[in-house]
Amino acid sequence: MKEQLLKLEKEALLELKGINDPSGLEKFRIKYLGKKGLLTAGMKKLKDLPAGERPEAGKLANVVKGNLTGHFEEARERVASGKAEGASFLDVTLPGREPLRGNLHPVTLVIKEVCQIFSRMGFMVVKGPNVELDYYNFEALNLPKDHPARDMQDTFYISGNVVLRTHTSPIQIRVMEAKKPPVSVIAPGKVYRRDSDVSHTPMFHQVEGLLVDKDVSFGDLKGTLTSFVHQMFGSDTSLRFRPSFFPFTEPSAEVDIRCVMCGGKGCRTCSHTGWLEILGSGMVDPNVYGFVDYDPEVYTGFAFGMGIERIAMLKYGINDIQLFFKNDMRFLRQF
Ligand code: PHE
Repeated sequence: MKEQLLKLEKEALLELKGINDPSGLEKFRIKYLGKKGLLTAGMKKLKDLPAGERPEAGKLANVVKGNLTGHFEEARERVASGKAEGASFLDVTLPGREPLRGNLHPVTLVIKEVCQIFSRMGFMVVKGPNVELDYYNFEALNLPKDHPARDMQDTFYISGNVVLRTHTSPIQIRVMEAKKPPVSVIAPGKVYRRDSDVSHTPMFHQVEGLLVDKDVSFGDLKGTLTSFVHQMFGSDTSLRFRPSFFPFTEPSAEVDIRCVMCGGKGCRTCSHTGWLEILGSGMVDPNVYGFVDYDPEVYTGFAFGMGIERIAMLKYGINDIQLFFKNDMRFLRQF
């Protein structure tokens, strides 16, 4: 009995090796493993054995069955994947499969474009820490201790004097501390505010600009930002400088562009004003120079800051800021 089982196994495995197609496999299955197959027949004979030999022979029969089934499954995979020896399942005339290609995130694209535009005008790209000292984020930017922007509602506090930066403006201070004028830098990065709804996310991106030298005027600010808007949104985009307030610039101005959705007629996007605010700017407040040891009698300069997601939304016509952070490939693939 034992010899018979082993012989059966040997023959079956040899036969299996030569099988290269599904119909051969099926014939094999019926011949050996099927209900009326050779192995099944052999197992039925077990009951005719003397009781003493039965357990051992039974065990062996099960091992052989397991073995054959295992090899049969392997052969099935081999045939299915077309790796059968001598078989040619590879059709070289079929067109190749195009590999999936990634693309840059729209926020990255806009950061790159903004930095490129200012680099061409001579600004140097710099960075600063996301976790920032109160001193750089507020104090040295002329934000007195009782300023509403310091309210716990807006700022993520790490500890009493350490915050997640609420804007990229602290980089202005770090740059001026490190280098005497002339300076002209552009600084992209993440910023954090305790805010979350359709138009706000607790983390978003800004790009900061700073230029300080002798004889820098508000006209330089206007010229620089006008050139930026024309390069970013097209040379036929009108813009306006609207008086505003920031503790670290004086005078200050916000820049609006003609609504990209309605062309100025008035729509939901521009709240029926025909204009869209895109950035804050102004002449560096002389008080700020006091913190970095610049002589306000000798130097003047301008600074500006813009929200990247906002620029991207206007440029690409996106109406929900949350889309930038949901990682929905159908959205991200479009850029
Ligand atoms: N930091 C300001 C903000 O986050 C923007 C700004 C930057 C304004 C530089 C003036 C100058 O709103």
